Amino acid sequence: MFHLGWFLGQGFGIQPWRGTFDGNAAHDWMKPERYVDLTSSLERGGYDFVFIEDTAMVEDTYGGSAAFTLAHGEMAPKNDPLPLVPLMTQRSKHIGVINTMSTIQYPPYLAARLMTTLDHLTDGRAGVNVVTSVTHRVAQNFGYDEHLPHDERYAMAEEWMDVVSGLWESWEPGAVVADTQTPMYADASKVHPIDHKGKYFSSRGPLNTIPGPQRRPVVAQAGNSIPGRELAAAHADTMLAMGRDVAQMKAFREDMHERLIAHGRKPTDCKVLFLVTPVLGETDAHAAERERERVRRTHDQESIEMVLWGMSYISGGTVDFSKFDLDALMPDIVGNGEQSSMQQYVKGNEDKTLREVVTGVRQIGDLGLIGSPDTVASKMGDIMDEVGGDGFLFYDPLNLNRRTIAEYTDGLSPALRKRGLIRDGFDDVTFRENLLAF
Ligand SMILES: Cc1cc2nc3c(=O)[nH]c(=O)nc-3n(C[C@H](O)[C@H](O)[C@H](O)COP(=O)(O)O)c2cc1C
Repeated sequence: MFHLGWFLGQGFGIQPWRGTFDGNAAHDWMKPERYVDLTSSLERGGYDFVFIEDTAMVEDTYGGSAAFTLAHGEMAPKNDPLPLVPLMTQRSKHIGVINTMSTIQYPPYLAARLMTTLDHLTDGRAGVNVVTSVTHRVAQNFGYDEHLPHDERYAMAEEWMDVVSGLWESWEPGAVVADTQTPMYADASKVHPIDHKGKYFSSRGPLNTIPGPQRRPVVAQAGNSIPGRELAAAHADTMLAMGRDVAQMKAFREDMHERLIAHGRKPTDCKVLFLVTPVLGETDAHAAERERERVRRTHDQESIEMVLWGMSYISGGTVDFSKFDLDALMPDIVGNGEQSSMQQYVKGNEDKTLREVVTGVRQIGDLGLIGSPDTVASKMGDIMDEVGGDGFLFYDPLNLNRRTIAEYTDGLSPALRKRGLIRDGFDDVTFRENLLAF
């Protein structure tokens, strides 16, 4: 068996809002209902979690202004995901919700306290995706002139994780006595300051709330660069990985296993889920038609601009891709943002034109998962057999609406269950226990 997760890549932001089946998204994206529906549908489909992206800025790298961003609702507007979490879980019982927190936005004490609060409010279903933020624009909203260099951000994130972890452990097991007679609500000898004074953070502790059902909420990590992998190996229970092809996926997972062992952890302690955008259809022919339509659209001016906009963002806001000649060679750019994402476009494409890359290379591909639910389920099984586990994280940003979700949860999930590939229910345990169950 393997795990499934859903990546809500637009965060608590405006979801697709112009399509035939997008409902009233332009006006109700900021209300909880569509996320409540999403969460309960995914639970029905046997997903372990929904993963909410977050970025706090209005992007203006592409074309040197926010015009494209705001016209299309790309990454802005966006609400803070944390208050959404306990609303989202109202109509489900087991599925976990991972919200993103940036180490430059939330001081460790605030983060530890908020996550513990969410763990209580969701009965042990809370998770945090620890990110370092990608662009100067985010950093500038939080007191920096510009963002720290890539590797230093990860050094800061390491310290952030240490402080947050220390605060989560600042109440020993058994510290809460809740004896009404003595009275002793909590035993002071089991509640400790952490007295952290480091390079980036200081926090005295202890946390001023009691441990949640998981004590330590689930920790996720998304960066695939070497420092990103190290952060995950040290702290994460699950990791988002870019799945390019089976060989790369297998190598990536093996690399993570070695790093986990080097950090004194078991390879099974961190589930590596591969991001993928499948193409589902009623039949294989229908899916192939949808795929042809997708490819055809990549040549539309709007699609081209959308990809250039995205590349400008993942460069960390350092490169405006509107400035390049589309028919000149792909520029060799690393950037100061999502370096592993940028590599998806650059590496191996040095002899292609920018237009060929923009229309032909996908940051997140389909891994050949194109077909009817039965066909895709069977291919997923084959891929996982070769890779060795742990599962997939679906991401369907252009089609996210209730109809699409039903295709996954009521079409694909039953086909996967029929083959015994995914869970057919949940034990009555916490999110982490479900995640680590297989
Ligand atoms: C799939 C994926 C999801 C991410 N989600 C977020 C996010 O929600 N918020 C954010 O600020 N950064 C996000 N990031 C950025 C990473 O956390 C990380 O800071 C960035 O990718 C740089 O890391 P890398 O060079 O290791 O790839 C995401 C990256 C990837 C690849």
